Amino acid sequence: MRITILGAAAGGGFPQWNCNCSNCAGVRAGTVRARPRTQSSIFVRPDEGADGVLFNASPDILEQIRASATLQPGRRVRDTAIAGVVLMDGQIDHSTGLFMLRERGSPLPLWCTDPVHDDLAQGNPVLRVLGHFCGVQRERIALDGSTFTVPGVAGLSLRALPLQSKAAPYSPHRDAPVPGDNIGMTVTDTRSGRSLFYAPGLGEIEPAVFDAMAGADLVMVDGTFWTNDEMIRLGLSRKTARDIGHLPQSGPGGMIEWMARLPATTRKALIHINNTNPILDEDSPERAALAAAGIEVTEDRMEISL
Ligand code: MLT
Ligand code: MN
Ligand code: ZN
Repeated sequence: MRITILGAAAGGGFPQWNCNCSNCAGVRAGTVRARPRTQSSIFVRPDEGADGVLFNASPDILEQIRASATLQPGRRVRDTAIAGVVLMDGQIDHSTGLFMLRERGSPLPLWCTDPVHDDLAQGNPVLRVLGHFCGVQRERIALDGSTFTVPGVAGLSLRALPLQSKAAPYSPHRDAPVPGDNIGMTVTDTRSGRSLFYAPGLGEIEPAVFDAMAGADLVMVDGTFWTNDEMIRLGLSRKTARDIGHLPQSGPGGMIEWMARLPATTRKALIHINNTNPILDEDSPERAALAAAGIEVTEDRMEISL
């Protein structure tokens, strides 16, 4: 399969419009060696065929499509390589890009869990609004471990795994999490047998999550924060990384420790990186620590052939 990183940043992007943290100010001024990134989304397609699956619809989707010619094949006067959209949660950074796809000539095929459907039908009624434009053809993601395929994308099999993370503030279940608020996804190329485990929002590595990670050839997971108190120390929030459903990379029980337990052959990468995270600075000791641990930091327009 071929994976295109459309956006590698967390909500707000990098640099964030109103932020003057050392990363954001430094990348703007050219004094920090770091690349700007848009909000997280990936596009996955099989080796044969142009059409694929969009995982999450970021508010930056139009810029992302313009930057990736493969998403805009010219077979007809109106065309797209996006055969369907699969949502990992109902947060703004992963769902509001759906508005930008409203010019479709037919309802947008959209896979999401029931709780995410609640978020986008009630708390932030994106789906109701889209009903006034192209509409969506909603398909339910089950949480029973069953696999599904996206019509038009032959050779990719998908399986969802419920995760501990956090629903959006407008979610009916923000303070009473339910399974399916956030999911991870195993994407398997049925021809080669190679697989990706994708989880841009991941708060806790439960046994089933570790099993899914250990069974994948490529693990691409939550890279939001380096430390649990990153936003508090910068005076930007009162909440820890774990409070908002993101496992930090450093420290005991952090993502680096978990990734070290994966098989030596597993390719390891971080996505959904917050603008405050020191790993964005390519000259930082934190970035060097990741390199030493064999963990990649994804960036926009990166292409991975798996
Ligand atoms: C998150 O991942 O925690 C959210 O997307 C934060 C946000 O609303 O930007
Ligand atoms: Mn997010
Ligand atoms: Zn910043």
